[in-house]
Amino acid sequence: MDKIIVEERQGNPTIKKSKKRNLKKLYLESYGCQMNFSDSEIVASILDKHGYQTTRNFLESDLILLNTCSIREKAETTVRTRLKSFNKIKKNNPKLIVGMLGCMAERMKESLLEQEKLVDLVVGPDAYRDLPNLIQEVEGGQKSVNVLLSREETYADISPVRLDNNGVSGFISIMRGCDNMCSFCVVPFTRGRERSRSPLTIVAEAKQLYDQGYKEVTLLGQNVDSYRWNINKKGEKIEESNPTTNFSELLEMVALVASDLRIRFSTSHPKDMTDDVIHTMNKHKNICNYIHLPVQSGSSKILKKMNRGYTREWYLDRIQSIRKIIPDCAISTDIITGFCDESQEDFKDTLSLMKKVKFDFSYMFFYSERPKTLAERKYEDNVPEKIKRTRLQRVIDLQREHSILSNNSCVGKVMEVLIDGVSKKSDLDFRGRNSENHKVVFPRENATIGTYVNVLIEKCTSATLIGKIV
Ligand code: 5AD
Ligand code: SF4
Repeated sequence: MDKIIVEERQGNPTIKKSKKRNLKKLYLESYGCQMNFSDSEIVASILDKHGYQTTRNFLESDLILLNTCSIREKAETTVRTRLKSFNKIKKNNPKLIVGMLGCMAERMKESLLEQEKLVDLVVGPDAYRDLPNLIQEVEGGQKSVNVLLSREETYADISPVRLDNNGVSGFISIMRGCDNMCSFCVVPFTRGRERSRSPLTIVAEAKQLYDQGYKEVTLLGQNVDSYRWNINKKGEKIEESNPTTNFSELLEMVALVASDLRIRFSTSHPKDMTDDVIHTMNKHKNICNYIHLPVQSGSSKILKKMNRGYTREWYLDRIQSIRKIIPDCAISTDIITGFCDESQEDFKDTLSLMKKVKFDFSYMFFYSERPKTLAERKYEDNVPEKIKRTRLQRVIDLQREHSILSNNSCVGKVMEVLIDGVSKKSDLDFRGRNSENHKVVFPRENATIGTYVNVLIEKCTSATLIGKIV
C-alpha cells in the first residue's frame, strides 16, 4: 500500500491566549513530510501576530488552511477531496476563507482557484510572510496567489508556534529546498533551490525548546548532509572573516545545547553522508543511534536513471561505515518499486540489497509519475501498475520480516526510553522511543511524560517493543 502520512496537528491548548482583541480562528491541516508540519508551525506563528488563534474545530474557524504535499499523486487526490468537503461548509458560512499552502500551490493554482473554485487563497512554501496581506486581499473580495520561490528565505527569525501537544519532541528546519534533481522527484520544483539557515539561529531555537521543557529535537532538511553555512559548493569560504559550518559541525553545536536533549535528523543522502557525521554521532551520547538513509533501489542501473549520484556498491559502503563506527545504529530507508525500465532483475537487486542490509524500518512506495520531473519528460512510465503494486507488496513483506528481526534483537535488553505520551491502545500504558527510534510501550508506574526511563523489553510485535520500567 502506498504510504502517505496524513495527520492533523492543529491547535495547542497550551498556547498562551493572545491579548489582541477580535481574535480570529485558524484551522490548519498538514499533509506529507515532517517539513510540512514544521512549515505549518511557521505559518501559525506569522498568523498569530496578526490575530489568528489556532483551533481544532474547523466548524468554528474563520480561516482554513491546508498545507499540501505533491510527492505522489495519491497525496494530491486526498487534498482535493478534503477541499471539496470544506467547500460544503462554505455554503453556510460565506465569510469562511479556504486556502491552500505548500507543495501543490504552484502546480494547482489555476485549476483549484480559477476553474474548480475550491480555494480563495494559494500560497507557496516561500511566501508565508505574505499571508496576512493575501488574506486581506481575499477579505476585500479578491482571489489571492503568491507562489514565488526564493533563493534566500529560511524563516530563520520566526519562532514557530508549536502545534504538537506533547511538549516533548520538536522539529527544527535547518535548510529549505533541494538541488539534487532525482529524476522521479517533484520537490526541487515545488520547494525550490537549496538554502541553509544560520547555525546560530538553529542553536538558539534548540535552546528555546529545551528551556520550554522539550527533550528531543529533530533537525530537518531534504538533504541534511549538504547543509553548509558560509561555504560554497566547491568547499570555499564565502565571507573570509566568518567561520564556516557543515552538517557534522552543526550536529555537534546542537548536541552541546544540553546533554539530556536528544538530537535526531532527517533526511540523510547516501551520496553526501560523510564519516565525519557518523563520528560526531558516536561522540555524543545524546545524538540518537538512528539514520534514515533512503536507497530508493538496489540496482545501479535504476539508481543512475533516478539520478541519485551513487551506485549499489557505494550505498553498501556507507552502510558498512555506519556499522563499523556505530555497531548498534538503527538504519531505515525509502524504497520505490516500478520506476521506469525496472526489470525483474533490477527488482531482485532491490530485494537482495534489503536482505544484505536488513533495515530496521522502511517507507515503501510504488513509483508515481510527477509533472515537470526529468523522468516525466524523458522516460516512459513503463512498468504496469499491477507489477508496481505486486513488487511493492513483496518489499513490504520482506521489510516486515526484517522489522521483526530488529525488534526481536531488543528483547531481553534494558533500553533508555523518552516518554512522549499515553499509549493509543491503553490509558494504563505510556509510549516512547529508544535512541534507535523503536516504538516502546510499557505500564505507566509513577513515571511522567517528557522523562527518560529504563525499560526492560519483554516481547515485541513487528511494529512495537513491549516491556516494563526497571
Ligand atoms: N513516486 C514514488 N515515491 C516517491 N518519492 C519521491 N518521489 C516519488 C515518486 N514520484 C519517495 C522517495 C522519497 C520519499 C520522500 O518519497 O522514496 O525518498
Ligand atoms: Fe527529492 Fe532527491 Fe531532493 Fe530527496 S534528494 S527531495 S528525493 S530530489
